[in-house]
Amino acid sequence: MLHTSIDINGARIRNRLYRAPVLEGAGSGPDAAEVYARHFVENARAGVGLIIQGSSCVYDEGRTSPGMTVVSTREAVLGLAPMVDAVHREGAAIFLQLGHGGIFAMEAWHEPYASQRKGPLLAASPIPWLLRPAFFGVPVHVLTTEEVRNVAARFAQVAAWAREAGYDGVELGSANAKLLDQFLSPFYNHRTDEFGGSLEARARILGLIREQVSARAGADYPCTVKVPVETAPPLGARTTREQAMRLCTLVEEWGFDAVTPVEVSVFPDTTLSRGGVPSSLWRQPAMRRRFRAAAPSRIRRGVIAAGSWVGGRRAQFRPVWNRSLFSAAKRRVAIPVLAVGGIRTAAEVNAILDRGDADLVGLGRPFYAEPDLAARILRGDGGPRLCRSSNLCIPAQMLGMRGVCYNPEVKARRR
Ligand SMILES: Cc1cc2nc3c(=O)[nH]c(=O)nc-3n(C[C@H](O)[C@H](O)[C@H](O)COP(=O)(O)O)c2cc1C
Repeated sequence: MLHTSIDINGARIRNRLYRAPVLEGAGSGPDAAEVYARHFVENARAGVGLIIQGSSCVYDEGRTSPGMTVVSTREAVLGLAPMVDAVHREGAAIFLQLGHGGIFAMEAWHEPYASQRKGPLLAASPIPWLLRPAFFGVPVHVLTTEEVRNVAARFAQVAAWAREAGYDGVELGSANAKLLDQFLSPFYNHRTDEFGGSLEARARILGLIREQVSARAGADYPCTVKVPVETAPPLGARTTREQAMRLCTLVEEWGFDAVTPVEVSVFPDTTLSRGGVPSSLWRQPAMRRRFRAAAPSRIRRGVIAAGSWVGGRRAQFRPVWNRSLFSAAKRRVAIPVLAVGGIRTAAEVNAILDRGDADLVGLGRPFYAEPDLAARILRGDGGPRLCRSSNLCIPAQMLGMRGVCYNPEVKARRR
């Protein structure tokens, strides 16, 4: 099964193994394509079927880290075409993930971006009470109904440019507490217009984006989506598992070509990846220095560090921790379901596919340390040997460092 190809709305993927989106820190400079190619070409040469490039921001402001690529112009997207071609030459397909950080854009907290921001943070609704102390003095703009339509159009426009650049499809970055998730989540979305209220209304922005992608990039251009279940806050408003299942049905009805269900927190913490406490933020000297510069206010640093610690303690690694969710989605919808979350060994990958729990299986962080990982998994020979799911890579990407493995033993090998 692992070696069987699959078609996602015309995009042929040579096997069922994919690289899940993890930020590469390629930024938006003239060398962005080259930096991506350094990661992806080797992954493709090692046999991976599909690469989902980490989230790229559809507006100039709204990145969650300095290393996140801005794809707000046609030139920026077409500039990535040489990398896309290089990936294709090695036989893999590549999707571009489109996103925006919403209220968690780095313009909220990360100096000098915060003090030089040109516009306010974009929000679905006013900041929830629980989070207001962390946003003291930060300008926030609640999108009007018309502006939400414009945001949907922008996602679609970038999808059309992605098609021009040769990408095989796009994925909406609609989980992990980002702007689209802030629309989906009742914790953030208290709108009273057509984009708030019921689950269907909160998700309407996704339907609109799909419609617009069909209009601008073509109905035959693959457009896929992430669907979150939210685990925290325990007693607060959040997207429940039942709602996420209903969302899976809705996105299928709206014409999305594949879905990746994930269990995450409403807060932007390590629940998205599970594993260790990302203690490099305060332990690793270079990161600690960058963190001080990025968040000169002690209070802000304290809030971020405390959130990282609590999130890390609460969301511990378990092998294949997302299984019950992706397998439930697979039983619910006919479109391909992409599995991700703590999947490591070739045996786990094969078991997921052979039991029919998902159609493609993804690994994220392990690719940082082992770019040729796909070859071993495809041979059935174990899995990653170096990734400890330590989450030490997370602060690095928050602070604009390279998307690589920061485990001391792997760092030592790189020297
Ligand atoms: C450093 C880092 C960056 C990530 N960036 C993204 C991203 O840009 N978009 C996204 O949807 N998920 C992102 N994720 C989540 C991963 O795609 C994946 O779901 C998660 O790491 C669990 O899979 P793994 O255990 O195989 O790493 C990121 C995770 C990490 C650790």
